[in-house]
Amino acid sequence: MLNKIDHVAIAVINLDAAIEDYRRRYGVAPFHREVVEDQMVEEALIPVGESLIQLVAPTREESTVARFLARQGEGLHHVGFEVADLVAVLAKLRDEGARLIDEAPRRGSRGAQIAFVHPKGGLGTLVELVQEGSATV
Ligand code: CO
Repeated sequence: MLNKIDHVAIAVINLDAAIEDYRRRYGVAPFHREVVEDQMVEEALIPVGESLIQLVAPTREESTVARFLARQGEGLHHVGFEVADLVAVLAKLRDEGARLIDEAPRRGSRGAQIAFVHPKGGLGTLVELVQEGSATV
């Protein structure tokens, strides 16, 4: 059901500072940066092998990431798993009583279809399911 870890997301206050921190500490750099209006965040995607580190900073106070930062500060926010058929995976999870934040896929960065699964009942981990889109960015 899960093809690979697509990304590990880290909530940060200042995206430029976080990118610079990763560059200095690990010698890595983002290949993509995007404002995702829907989630009120800006993301920077840093490739690490087959997966990505996603640095994510809120663009507005009402963003769930802003609330996360206010509550517990910077740190691990969610894990993104790549799936082949997001609609099918959501249906299966719903049948099993999983608490879905998104009942249907919505648009994430890079043209992907995404849906979040609530950490409650999920070992306290916010999970993002990602079905890659056709976008080439
Ligand atoms: Co994500």
